[in-house]
Amino acid sequence: MLKSCCVYSTGVLCILFLIAGISLVLSQVFQNIVYNRIKSEVVLKNGTDAFAAWENPPPPVYMQFYFFNLTNPIEVLAGDKPAVVELGPYTYREYRPMSNVTFLENGTKVEAINPKTYVFEANMSSGSEEDLIRTVNIPAMTVMEKMKNSPFGGALISKYMTGEEIGLFTSVSVGDLLWGYEDKLLEMVKTFEPSLDTKFGLFYKMNGTDDGDYVFYTGSQNYQDFASVALWKGQSSLNWWTSDECNMINGTNGASFHPIVNQSETLYMFSSDLCRSMYAVFEKDVWVKYLPAYRFVPPSEVFANMTINPANAGFCVPEGNCLGSGLLNVSVCKQGAPIIMSSPHFYQADEKFVEDVIGMKPKKEHHETAIDINPLTGIVLRAAKRLQVNVLVEKIEVFQSQTGDVRTLVFPVMYLNESVVIDDDSAKKLLAVVAEGNVVINIPFIIIGLGILLGVVFMALMCRQRTPESSPAERQPLLKP
Ligand SMILES: *[C@@H]1O[C@H](CO)[C@@H](O)[C@H](O)[C@H]1NC(C)=O
Ligand SMILES: *[C@@H]1O[C@H](CO)[C@@H](O)[C@H](O)[C@H]1NC(C)=O
Ligand SMILES: *[C@@H]1O[C@H](CO)[C@@H](O)[C@H](O)[C@H]1NC(C)=O
Ligand SMILES: *[C@@H]1O[C@H](CO)[C@@H](O)[C@H](O)[C@H]1NC(C)=O
Ligand SMILES: *[C@@H]1O[C@H](CO)[C@@H](O)[C@H](O)[C@H]1NC(C)=O
Ligand SMILES: *[C@@H]1O[C@H](CO)[C@@H](O)[C@H](O)[C@H]1NC(C)=O
Ligand SMILES: *[C@@H]1O[C@H](CO)[C@@H](O)[C@H](O)[C@H]1NC(C)=O
Ligand SMILES: *[C@@H]1O[C@H](CO)[C@@H](O)[C@H](O)[C@H]1NC(C)=O
Repeated sequence: MLKSCCVYSTGVLCILFLIAGISLVLSQVFQNIVYNRIKSEVVLKNGTDAFAAWENPPPPVYMQFYFFNLTNPIEVLAGDKPAVVELGPYTYREYRPMSNVTFLENGTKVEAINPKTYVFEANMSSGSEEDLIRTVNIPAMTVMEKMKNSPFGGALISKYMTGEEIGLFTSVSVGDLLWGYEDKLLEMVKTFEPSLDTKFGLFYKMNGTDDGDYVFYTGSQNYQDFASVALWKGQSSLNWWTSDECNMINGTNGASFHPIVNQSETLYMFSSDLCRSMYAVFEKDVWVKYLPAYRFVPPSEVFANMTINPANAGFCVPEGNCLGSGLLNVSVCKQGAPIIMSSPHFYQADEKFVEDVIGMKPKKEHHETAIDINPLTGIVLRAAKRLQVNVLVEKIEVFQSQTGDVRTLVFPVMYLNESVVIDDDSAKKLLAVVAEGNVVINIPFIIIGLGILLGVVFMALMCRQRTPESSPAERQPLLKP
């Protein structure tokens, strides 16, 4: 009697556990508990971990530059394809704390500037800042482009360039090419244009300076707005290329995205050096320091030409002037210099650009921009932003002595890889948060599992009760041949 009571209560418990477990799964109570806790913690508020990590991100950010050294300048001027050798990395540690932080509008927004400082890391570099790079003379190319339709002024400048031995190509040290050097030609042109800056460098005036005033959402109103850019330089305009300003504001700047990231989401990232925002979509699951992550990459449509992706008409500047897949004319943002951005080695660009330069070897894993995000917390575990700076080179009649018979081509000068990986301390802390969240989220499944276990026990007990018990003596022979 007591025995069968035990058996039946096991059965009842089994059913109760199953019902409770399944209804907890369906109502997502435990999932919501975890999500709500994370949502409430991820807000930019003085004193929170999220604020500390946003204000001064703990993991080191490295900016690595790779240069293309031209090996055959004389042949290129005679009409041959350029052949280049990749040099680098030249690595800089990037310090990027938020500064002048002020909370606005009851803590729903926060205003800040984000100055970046670069310090050379010799032991992470192959070569020194004194290495000479032979590449296109960008100030000269810019001046020639500007003067190409003025025969008289052009001839005068061409003569001056010949006298000073200034040609289409030049050799400049890595340090000068990045951080700026006095350019003789620009000094000469300054006599006609007194406002001209006679220094030139790809990262000239970028060390220790900020790229304008930002206003971010703190995420206190909507967790999905966490740390995303509300205003840049006082503007919220989403227009691409308004007048001569390069303002494109969208997305997040910094080390975090909103928590609880969905695989079907499009992530917007703001990049002032691209003069626009980029977007990325889910590619695959990855692991970073034992933490689960979603990898987001810019889809190939981002780089496609207008025929394939009509939305990219914004790349065609001036209007109707399209360069082809994978290239972005950023001339307007670079004081009129004929600068064209692409992925390193023209990854995802038209095959034509790869074939035009000997030495280009595009490779997905080395040349794509990718960002690995922990989906639960939105914390960036690893990221690499990769961009190439190119110059449009072409034959210009007035400057016959300088440009010779050069082909019209997009000449690669340098590419960069700005990367970050979560530091071990933060990874350890995050691992605890993720593990705890996983346990709590899985409580309903543990209850269902217990229900199933009880079900099995119940059935075993039922069978035992029904079948008559056999004596050990009867079983004995089975064990013997
Ligand atoms: C945050 O709080 C600390 C100490 O209470 C204070 O010194 C600091 O100015 C505050 N920061 C901001 C941005 O309000
Ligand atoms: C800030 O909060 C107070 C009280 O909740 C409210 O009266 C005020 O309008 C809010 N100000 C802004 C700028 O939202
Ligand atoms: C950038 O500025 C910092 C501090 O002023 C300095 O230590 C560093 O050497 C500079 N980096 C370059 C590349 O000039
Ligand atoms: C780049 O090429 C030039 C010309 O061949 C050479 O003098 C220079 O040493 C090269 N630079 C490096 C860093 O190898
Ligand atoms: C800006 O972001 C929103 C979503 O946050 C998106 O709908 C919109 O298309 C984006 N605009 C541009 C120009 O990328
Ligand atoms: C790039 O844009 C500038 C300014 O909008 C324009 O003058 C130039 O022709 C463009 N270059 C190409 C190759 O389309
Ligand atoms: C766009 O790209 C496709 C495929 O790469 C190519 O077939 C097409 O000719 C291109 N269109 C233009 C206008 O460049
Ligand atoms: C950055 O990218 C380059 C080339 O794609 C690669 O060689 C380098 O290891 C990367 N750096 C880091 C820190 O991941």
